[in-house]
Amino acid sequence: MPGQFRYPISSLKEITKRVEGLEIPGVLLFGMPEKKDDFGSEAYHDKGIVQKAIRAVKENTDLLVITDICLCQYTSHGHCGVVCDGIVKNDDTLKLLSKIALSHAKAGADIVAPSDMMDGRVKAIRTELDNNSFEDILIMSYAAKFLSSFYGPFREAANSAPSFGDRRTYQMDPANILEALREVELDIKEGADIVMVKPALSYLDVIFRVKEKFGLPTAAYNVSGEYSIIKAASKMGWIDEKKVVKELLLGMKRAGADFIISYFALEYSSL
Ligand code: PBG
Ligand code: ZN
Repeated sequence: MPGQFRYPISSLKEITKRVEGLEIPGVLLFGMPEKKDDFGSEAYHDKGIVQKAIRAVKENTDLLVITDICLCQYTSHGHCGVVCDGIVKNDDTLKLLSKIALSHAKAGADIVAPSDMMDGRVKAIRTELDNNSFEDILIMSYAAKFLSSFYGPFREAANSAPSFGDRRTYQMDPANILEALREVELDIKEGADIVMVKPALSYLDVIFRVKEKFGLPTAAYNVSGEYSIIKAASKMGWIDEKKVVKELLLGMKRAGADFIISYFALEYSSL
């Protein structure tokens, strides 16, 4: 995506200093491993790319460090869970997600953010963290994450598109608001501290309903496809980018988002 980069560890100091200087409160880290395998083992390696990145950011800044917990960037098949006979196995995946969360906590993450959408992952991660004396690490769950076509540019950048099928056995049906609310409720019961709705723009009603119904800190993820559409229209000279971005972010806040995760953060931190 224009203006977005994959940063090597050696450049993290400079970029995160910039983030901090702009008074952006934190970063959400994703990793690109050197090698992938069937079980995504680079994701829970103590010297994995995200674990190194957490340490680098914490050494150089006071930023809040949130880490994405998922397997899809690390598995050879690109699914968010363990695959057996062409099926994503929910319960077998929970152990691996807990291992990833624990290794991020050990490296110094403040908040872990599971984005896989397996059932029961919040409870599994909470239990693993508590059993290892990480009671103070928060969980921001991607609670209502929809099966969306707006993740395309991210998957291209992260090389994480599934090699067969799609994610409909674990991500939410875009048409079903009641199911989304039930998923959020389950995550809260399992111990989520912050709940997220993703994507943001086509799901503002979901953000509103989640905030109204549960009153928990609520995050909106302004995803890669949403960012790219704006950048493309702006390049064509069809919109006033700055004004449009402001209006969109305002819409997310008006809907009830307490946090916005956005690729626009660096460019428009002071709208
Ligand atoms: C991994 C993950 C994805 C995104 C965040 N975490 C991709 C996906 O679910 O396919 C999407 C981010 C974006 O589009 O900006 N589970
Ligand atoms: Zn995933």
